[in-house]
This record gives sequence, C-alpha cells and structure tokens, in this order.
Amino acid sequence: MAAEVVVVGSCMTDLVSLTTRLPKAGETILGHKFFVGFGGKGANQCVQSARLGAKTSLICKVGKDSFGNDYVDNLKKNGISTGQNVIVIVPGANLLLNFEDLKRASDVICKAKVVVCQLEITPAVSLEALKMARASGVKTLFNPAPALADLDPQFYTYSDIFCCNETEAEILTGIPVGNLEDAEKVGRMLLERGCKLVIVTLGAEGCMMISGDEPIPKHVPAGKVRAVDTTGAGDSFVGALAFYLAHYPKLSMEEMIRKSNCVASVSVQAPGTQSSYPYRKDLPQDLF
Ligand SMILES: Nc1ncnc2c1ncn2[C@@H]1O[C@H](COP(=O)(O)OP(=O)(O)O)[C@@H](O)[C@H]1O
Ligand SMILES: *[C@@H]1O[C@H](CO)[C@@H](O)[C@H](O)[C@H]1NC(C)=O
Repeated sequence: MAAEVVVVGSCMTDLVSLTTRLPKAGETILGHKFFVGFGGKGANQCVQSARLGAKTSLICKVGKDSFGNDYVDNLKKNGISTGQNVIVIVPGANLLLNFEDLKRASDVICKAKVVVCQLEITPAVSLEALKMARASGVKTLFNPAPALADLDPQFYTYSDIFCCNETEAEILTGIPVGNLEDAEKVGRMLLERGCKLVIVTLGAEGCMMISGDEPIPKHVPAGKVRAVDTTGAGDSFVGALAFYLAHYPKLSMEEMIRKSNCVASVSVQAPGTQSSYPYRKDLPQDLF
C-alpha cells in the first residue's frame, strides 16, 4: 500500500529536565521533573499527518542504540511505515541519511501524493528528495527549518509550497516580521525566488498565504485558544497541511490552511510536542 504522505527528515529524542532556573557553569542543581519525548521536525510532521488519518512513510536514520530502537517503536505505534531500518552506530545519525538511502526509497517517494522536507538532515539530501518528488509529479511541501541564511536557491524552485515561521522568514530575507504587512512583504520576496505558494505561520495570528496565482495575499487567522505549550506547533501545522493536500486535494488552499490552523491550535493547548498532537477522533468532525 503506497504511502500518501512521505516525509524525508529527522528523528530526535528529547531529554527534558524541568528546573526552576538554569544551572550556572559547573553547578549542579535539582530538577523537579525529567521526561523523554519524541521529537525531530521530520518525525513530528509525519506523526501529526498519520494521526489525522494519512498513510505515511518516514525516511530517516536513527542510531543503533536504545534511543534509536525506542524511536522506531514510537513510529510503529503511530502507524508510520519505516520499512527496512537503516541503522548506524554513531550519534547524529540524522546527518548520515544520504543519496543512497533516497535511492533505496525512491519507489516510496515517487508514489506519494505529497513529499515533505525540512532542514534537520543534510540540506543536499532534502533538496534531492524534493527533486525526485517533482520529477514524478508528486507535490512538494518544504519547511526551511531550522533556517539557513544561505539556502540553496533551488529549494524555492523545487517547492510547490514553501512554509516557514516568522523567524525563518527573517533569516531568509533579512526582514523582521512584526505584523501582517511584514509577513506579506517577506512572503512576496520568497515567492519571487521561485516557489508557487508561500505560507508564513504567525503563531496565534494564524498564517499569511502568498500565492503566485492570486495577486492579493490572504491572512488566514487561527481561532482564539488558551495556549499552554506552543513547542512543535509549526510541525503540527505542516503535518496537518500534508494530510489535507493528500486527502482533500480539491479543497481550496485557504480552506486547507484554515483547517491546519485548527489542528495546530489544538496542539498548543496540551504540553509537549508529539504528545500534544491531536488524533482525528478527538477533533471536530467538520475538519474531515
Ligand atoms: N497561541 C496560538 N493560538 C492558536 N494557534 C496557534 C498559537 N500558536 C501557534 N498556533 C498555530 O500553530 C501554527 C504554527 O505556529 P508558529 O508559532 O508560527 O510555528 P512554530 O512552531 O514554527 O514557531 C500557527 O500558524 C497556528 O495555526
Ligand atoms: C520558528 O521555528 C524555529 C525552529 O526552526 C524556532 O526556533 C523559532 O522559535 C520559531 N519562531 C517563532 C516566532 O515561533
């Protein structure tokens, strides 16, 4: 069964200690809570998409250690196909995902409806995945995170949708985004670099959408909610958008963004990253 949403990206294990303050250099302090969380932008986006009901595949690399093994278990629990595991014994396994690995996964990539990439793996590998997708007519969704000031310009031309947050937009354009007008301006600049559609996520303000097909940028607001932890909201948004692109390709882009805002705004109302991502059954059914 071909995956609809294929993410080529990172897995990270978060080791989190909660303390009342940061320790000074050389100091030992007591924390009041410790937990292990599953993160990494690639995996986060894939998990959110899977929880909404997309058939997903994650192309990633993990270390051959307990963190790597636990991570693969976590992906399986979320119904994400990982295929044959490619396992290495060094840390920073994410950076070892290479062109050979993409070649081995080319069937999965080329049969997808949407391919999603970020920058937590070697950028050249992300770019190659976008190129492979494009060559097969697969829609490409690129999230330039974490941002690189000297991003290879080909990332723009190979992105059908280029989705970044305010910080990333500033790093890419040099223009700080403080209001909706700034978001329009940076969006237009990014669009001119060759993508078909730019989305700038704006936290509680939702998103600005700048499309090559429409002259007027569109602000798509998010609902008012009480946010408790916004970590990973951007990944929830990107994962949700990938789901809508794959499952409801006939919806207007504005409607897909509105629905993705709703999903991401649910994620900010619970603590943690993947632990805060909603499942389809817990969401208003008019989102589907
Ligand atoms: N306080 C909030 N209230 C409602 N929705 C939010 C809030 N913060 C984030 N979101 C939702 O999450 C999306 C991504 O948030 P943003 O903060 O821009 O991303 P990032 O996690 O990359 O910083 C927003 O476009 C919006 O849909
Ligand atoms: C944007 O995302 C980056 C991670 O790439 C994060 O460090 C930054 O805080 C985010 N910016 C905003 C305004 O949320």
